[in-house]
Amino acid sequence: MLFEVRALTKTFGRATAVDTIAFGVERPGFIGVIGRSGAGKSTLLRMINRLTDASAGEVLFDGRDILRLRGAEKRAWQSECAMIFQQFNLVPRLDVVTNVMFGQLNKRSTLATMFNVFPRADIHRAIDILERLGIAEHAAKRAEALSGGQQQRVAIARALMQDPRMILADEPIASLDPMNAQVVMDTLRRIHDEDGRMVLCNLHTLDTARRYCDRVIGMRAGRIVFDGKPEELTTTAAREIYGADESFSESATSTAIEALETPALRAVHTAEAAV
Ligand SMILES: Nc1ncnc2c1ncn2[C@@H]1O[C@H](COP(=O)(O)OP(=O)(O)O)[C@@H](O)[C@H]1O
Ligand SMILES: [Mg+2]
Repeated sequence: MLFEVRALTKTFGRATAVDTIAFGVERPGFIGVIGRSGAGKSTLLRMINRLTDASAGEVLFDGRDILRLRGAEKRAWQSECAMIFQQFNLVPRLDVVTNVMFGQLNKRSTLATMFNVFPRADIHRAIDILERLGIAEHAAKRAEALSGGQQQRVAIARALMQDPRMILADEPIASLDPMNAQVVMDTLRRIHDEDGRMVLCNLHTLDTARRYCDRVIGMRAGRIVFDGKPEELTTTAAREIYGADESFSESATSTAIEALETPALRAVHTAEAAV
């Protein structure tokens, strides 16, 4: 088993955010975690990345319990599982390429980082990654000057700078319009397909999970209530995950990406992606 979560639990006071969940991953897949707000999706990713301590349980990667790691080993793990956030978490007033190079932070000395002194090789690598993601022409601009979709691609570039084994994305498209959402999801999927990096991606919409993921984990109130292939994600299964009654409608959990798939708009996406 490449990756395994065992009886993972997180309590906040008397509330249980993540409740003894377990799942295993044999091969580096593209896995979506879906569920309504408050289901425990973010808490799950934050425990895996060690941004927050678990209350109980184990997280094994290559057989090693990463919850037990301390100090330098913990930081090494954090650079192996890069995190992408809904709000991009860039430094808005700094230029794009510097933001990308911050992906190396865990591997470099504090002093060099403090003075923004980056080796030439880092700069070249950052530009190469930006080129790969189609945004190299913005390298010298301040991050805040870019559109949301471009900023999220900068955040993905920063994650790639870490050369991670796993990418954890916490609702990476929740702040984006449908077109930018598609570009960002396409980018994550491409990184997965081309580099074989595992992606664990929190999504709050069904259609995106169905379209991009090889496997979908549905969470409700801290527990896993669905774990299967996207095609097994029936309306009944979705009701179980979202806890909706008869009035449940798929459109309510849709980002409308599919609605964009007309030939004319596809041409626009292609053009946009090339910019
Ligand atoms: N730092 C915190 N302190 C107290 N409760 C929290 C904290 N973070 C999350 N929670 C609670 O844990 C539950 C799961 O939250 P979260 O993991 O953010 O869900 P999701 O990402 O699926 O929306 C929610 O009930 C939330 O209020
Ligand atoms: Mg969340």
